[in-house]
Amino acid sequence: MKLNTLAVLTVLAMPASAPAASAQTVEQRLPACLACHGTNGTAKLPGVPSLGAMPTDYVLTQLYMFREKMRVAAPMNALAESLSDDDLRDLGDAVSKLPPPQPVGEALAAADADHGNALVNRYHCNSCHGADLAGHDNIPRIAGQREDYLLKSLTDYKSGARPGYSPAMSEASKEIQPDDIPVLARFVSRYK
Ligand code: HEC
Ligand code: HEC
Repeated sequence: MKLNTLAVLTVLAMPASAPAASAQTVEQRLPACLACHGTNGTAKLPGVPSLGAMPTDYVLTQLYMFREKMRVAAPMNALAESLSDDDLRDLGDAVSKLPPPQPVGEALAAADADHGNALVNRYHCNSCHGADLAGHDNIPRIAGQREDYLLKSLTDYKSGARPGYSPAMSEASKEIQPDDIPVLARFVSRYK
C-alpha cells in the first residue's frame, strides 16, 4: 500500500511538461529521421530513400503500413511502432516541405536518356506519377530518387515482396520487362 502511494506521488510530482517517450513532438523526432534520410531531402546512405517533397498522404500511408507491418523493412517497422496517427500526418507534412532530392551521379548520354524517356512513356509511369514524376496524393515522387532504391523498389513490386497500399504499382510492374528496370532506375534517378 505504502509503495503504491509513493509511486502515485512520484508520478504526480513529475513536471507536467516532461514528455513521455511516446509523446515526442515532430520537431524532436525529425532529426533522427533525417540522420538517415538526409537533412536537405536528399538521402546519402545506400538503400535509404530520399524524402524531400514527397506527398504528405504518401508518407502518411507508408508510415502507417510500416507501423502495421504491412510493409516490411526492419529499421522502419521498429521506428514506426510508437507513432500515433497524428504523428504520421505531422511527419508527412514535415518531410513534404523539404526540398526535392538533388539527383546524384553523372548525367546520361543522350541515347540512354532517350531510351529511359521512351520506357517511361511506354509503361505510362507519368500517367500515375505525374508528368514531371513528382507524385501526388498517395502516389510517390520518383523524380530524383536514389537509383539503388528505385532498383530495389521496382524489383520488389515485381516479385511481390512489396505489396503497396493498392495493387496499382504491382499491376504496373508486371508489364515491365526485367531488362528495362535498370534503364528506368538510371533515368528516373536523374530526372529533375
Ligand atoms: C536507420 C535509418 C533510418 C531511420 C532513422 C529512419 N528511416 Fe525511414 N527508411 C529507412 C530505410 C532503409 C527505408 C527503406 C525501406 C525499404 O527498403 O523498403 C526507409 C523508408 C522510409 C519511408 C518510405 C519512403 C518511400 O519512398 O516509400 C518513409 C516515409 C520513411 N522511411 C520515413 C521515416 C521517418 C518519418 C523516420 C523518423 C521517424 C525515419 N524514416 C527514420 C531508414 C531509416
Ligand atoms: C497505375 C498507376 C501507376 C503506374 C502506371 C506506375 N506507378 Fe509507380 N506507383 C504507383 C503507386 C500507387 C505507388 C505506391 C504504392 C505503394 O503503396 O507502395 C507507386 C510506387 C512506385 C515506386 C516506389 C517509390 C518509393 O518511394 O518507394 C516506384 C519506384 C515507382 N512506383 C516507379 C514507377 C515506374 C518507374 C513506373 C513506370 C515503369 C510506374 N511506377 C508506373 C502507381 C503507378
